[in-house]
Amino acid sequence: MIKRWRFTLACAVLLGSCPALAQPLYKDPAQPVEKRVADLLARMTLEEKLGQMTQVAVSKLMSDGWGLGPLKGELLERYLVQRGIGSVLSGGGMGPVPNTPRAWAEMTNAIQRAAVEKGRLGIPLLYGVDAVHGHNNVVGATLYPHSLGLAATWNPALVEQVARRVGQELRATGTLWNFAPVADLGRDPRWGRFYETFGEDPLLAGSLVAATVRGLQAGRVAATLKHFTGYGQPLGGTDRSPAFLAPRTLQEVWLPPFRAGLEAGALTVMANSGSLNGVPVHASRYLLTDVLRGQMGFKGVVISDWNDIDKLVGDHKAAAGFADAVAMSINAGVDVYMVPMEVDRYLQTLKELVEAGRISRARVDEAAGRVLWLKFQLGLFERPYVEAAEAEKVVEAQRPLAKQAALESITLLENAAFTLPLTNVKTLLVTGPAATDKTMQMGGWSIDWQGKEGAKAPGATVLEGLQKGAPQGVKVAYADPKDARALAAAVRASDAVVVALGEKPYAENEGNNLTGELPAEQYKLLRDLKALGKPVVLVLLAGRPLAFPDDAWLVPKAILMAYLPGSEAGSALADVLFGRHNPSGRLPFTWPKLFGQVPFTYDRYPDIYPKAEPLYPFGYGLSYTDFTYRLQAARATANAVEVDVEVRNTGKRAGSDVVQLYTRFPPLGLLAPRERLVAFTKVNLEPGQTRTLKLTAPLDRFALVPGDVFSLELPRVLPGRYVLRVGEQTVGVEVR
Ligand code: NOJ
Repeated sequence: MIKRWRFTLACAVLLGSCPALAQPLYKDPAQPVEKRVADLLARMTLEEKLGQMTQVAVSKLMSDGWGLGPLKGELLERYLVQRGIGSVLSGGGMGPVPNTPRAWAEMTNAIQRAAVEKGRLGIPLLYGVDAVHGHNNVVGATLYPHSLGLAATWNPALVEQVARRVGQELRATGTLWNFAPVADLGRDPRWGRFYETFGEDPLLAGSLVAATVRGLQAGRVAATLKHFTGYGQPLGGTDRSPAFLAPRTLQEVWLPPFRAGLEAGALTVMANSGSLNGVPVHASRYLLTDVLRGQMGFKGVVISDWNDIDKLVGDHKAAAGFADAVAMSINAGVDVYMVPMEVDRYLQTLKELVEAGRISRARVDEAAGRVLWLKFQLGLFERPYVEAAEAEKVVEAQRPLAKQAALESITLLENAAFTLPLTNVKTLLVTGPAATDKTMQMGGWSIDWQGKEGAKAPGATVLEGLQKGAPQGVKVAYADPKDARALAAAVRASDAVVVALGEKPYAENEGNNLTGELPAEQYKLLRDLKALGKPVVLVLLAGRPLAFPDDAWLVPKAILMAYLPGSEAGSALADVLFGRHNPSGRLPFTWPKLFGQVPFTYDRYPDIYPKAEPLYPFGYGLSYTDFTYRLQAARATANAVEVDVEVRNTGKRAGSDVVQLYTRFPPLGLLAPRERLVAFTKVNLEPGQTRTLKLTAPLDRFALVPGDVFSLELPRVLPGRYVLRVGEQTVGVEVR
């Protein structure tokens, strides 16, 4: 008796060393994360660790299949408590029924409760979504422009603000793992995911990837750089077809946006579903371990893409069976399998592979340990639940920020005879399929995967926006483009026509377009309008540059590229068309003249035979005012090249310009890009105002991979005299 009393006293004094009374170390937020991970791992069974390496689709918890509905207690018990599954995802379109912000929060809370309160060790669960342009699965959430449009803003601070806002919405609904940003480049506009990228240039895309990571993670939501790597250049332009990239191209072009995201602290990375140089990326130890961790220093979690270990067998035909595929992929470096449905088969196979020694226990500890590390980083052990009543308030429409993003993205491509802004128009006719179809302004990944439900998102159509935003005394009429007679009569009764054309929403493979063409009736509409003789303004809502037959392209007097602007398409276009906003968007890609030119980027190697010029070059965009540049002497410092540039607004309106600094390379014994963007900045100037800006180009933008055809060297700066260019001004600089 006395002995027991003494023991208890000692425990009380040395609290923390007494197993019976102290809380386990891993539950103590004051302990360093590494210690918490080690402590928790030491308490876990093999099965519990394998559970952390598994991610299941939420519909499994609703119907044990694809059906949506209320969560079922027995399925929560089976998968979260007995199997110890570590994370759940909403594949595009999966969510609570009915779909409201509050229902999302209640759903994630219920899932969390099963994991935390019923799980043996109380390990919280991580919930993943694809919030790629707003919290886009949730009805009621504002949809921002897709990444391609955000890239046209050339404004990392704005992109960070958008991501921060999205991060808050994600947190409020308990969805703390976001499969965004896309760090692939958009270098082939035939590809169905072109609009999900920040365009073709590694510096611009990298800056916006980093901004997105900072913004999301400020709200303690994990960002995912996807899809590592080489995903954006499938041979022939169709999604997930094999890619071939020289190691030097990988290093100079494809890795920098990922590196920028990692430097910004991205916590997770998703592997590329496709193959690169004959190896499926999910089975590439070289890419997922040697490059990503060895060269790039990544410490977080690598997640597979959807069902992609299975694809090693059935699609890539690289593995003889599922067990081989699992061994290849986990040993290559995949930590978590996004196995939407066949959970039991995966867990069983994984266990057998460990028991047979084909996957080491150390590898399991490493992978499961990384997932636990991620959960500690996000504060999930301390705050697993959210306030469901708050979710509704946080996910309320964020219209001003979405409008600012749409405004800054809109790119003026043509403006013959100063057609825009529309200051002398009394009656404006609006027509075209994209004027009234909300799904066309939202694009894919809007409520559901293919964007078919995008009309449920808040926001006005182009027509509604123009009607609401028309200045006093301007009448905005509408004519159905399918009714040729009514259209002709309406055109005759108006001073000018705005025709909104574009693409129906799409995602992934369903969005490949090998010709870049719109449906034929849209071109016909342009030709019909031409015959009626009124000035035509063309507004494009599309996720890629489009191909236009010459006779159709020459119809409009002014052309605006609006990308996929989201909820605020209409109000933003009204401000631009009626002159309340001076457009400042710049193309984040090269617009080919013919789709036969593709892939066709500004930074391609020099052409031996003269090539047709693009229709519009990378970085292009007009304004309602004009800017001129004067480049001053440049200097190289230890890690950058600096140059001062004087920018002057020579027109009569205030406006923003994106000042773009490019370098040309000296002869270095190997090919170099014709030009490479090395710095950019956006500046707002009053009419007649001049400002001198200092542009700083990091030295690594001057680096090339030296060596012969299959060189595996890393990029480095080769000394020589480089030529910098802004607009038509150039200046030389010695770089050592
Ligand atoms: C497949 C897509 O490739 C990927 O981008 C996405 O994150 C997952 N599905 C989950 O929806």
